[in-house]
Amino acid sequence: MPLVTSKEMFEKAYAGKYAIGAFNVNNMEIIQGIVDAAKEEQSPIILQVSAGARKYAKHIYLVKLVEAALEDSNLPICLHLDHGEDFEICKSCIDGGFSSVMFDGSKLPFEENIAITKRVVEYAHERGVVVEAELGRLAGIEDAVSVSEQDAIYTDPDQAVEFVERTGVDSLAIAIGTSHGAYKFKGTPRLDYERLDKISSLLPGFPLVLHGASTVLPEFVALCNEFGGKIDGAQGVPEDMLRKAALSGVCKINIDTDLRLAMTASIRKHLAQHPGDFDPRQYLKPAREAIKNMVQHKIRNVLGSSNKLD
Ligand code: G3H
Ligand code: 13P
Ligand code: ZN
Repeated sequence: MPLVTSKEMFEKAYAGKYAIGAFNVNNMEIIQGIVDAAKEEQSPIILQVSAGARKYAKHIYLVKLVEAALEDSNLPICLHLDHGEDFEICKSCIDGGFSSVMFDGSKLPFEENIAITKRVVEYAHERGVVVEAELGRLAGIEDAVSVSEQDAIYTDPDQAVEFVERTGVDSLAIAIGTSHGAYKFKGTPRLDYERLDKISSLLPGFPLVLHGASTVLPEFVALCNEFGGKIDGAQGVPEDMLRKAALSGVCKINIDTDLRLAMTASIRKHLAQHPGDFDPRQYLKPAREAIKNMVQHKIRNVLGSSNKLD
């Protein structure tokens, strides 16, 4: 099966009130773990690649690994650029075989964000590729850039409508209180559902995207810390809050930190328990399995995208 865009996935997810998982990938074991989970769950998925992932693994390696995953799994997979910061990186991914790109102009003035998003949309649509944009600004860390809580800006519902109408973008990432990384809330987790419902009601049928949606599963934090890690004060988005968001037009839920924690916890545990091991396959095999189990749990119990292939 060839790569697909997220268009049809989102139409079905919107109507069925579930979400598609968008998982960040950096290497073969992560891709295999995610795809194995999706295959068992018979779920559509989005594999997303950040600028940092492209730098780490090289564009061509990631594209070829995803091509192998398509052939091996026969699943509908969308290959997406995560947080493209300018027109050039979006163009490079469109020309280089991706089926979806994100232009993230959330740090730019409104008019500049519109102008570049529009340019990316024109270039992408002419080539059958879909585009996600972002309005509002999440707190947290991404690609070593840190946005403090004070600098985070929630998405304005009226601006969201104007943005979507003027750019022709296919989906929109909004800021309602999530943030990137493992330290999302200081006190009680809180998402602005009122704002989400307002945006969703002003844009009926339009797919919204939630970044920074890892739950920071306590079992993985505990495992990391049990075997030499030092992760203090981590807090993610509770899973019932993600399910609730999927009822209000959120069709794409982005998860990276939970993958990192699952993989690292498994590797820490293995190496601590087998100090004589130095064959990477010995610790990457259980790490891949840990990713698979975590993604399967997300698909089945949080996203609700199991058995949604037809
Ligand atoms: O939102 C950012 C993702 O977690 C990707 O992180 O830029 O370090 O690859 P990265
Ligand atoms: P997390 O850091 O919560 O996993 O968010 C990932 C993300 O939004 C990728 O774009
Ligand atoms: Zn993100």
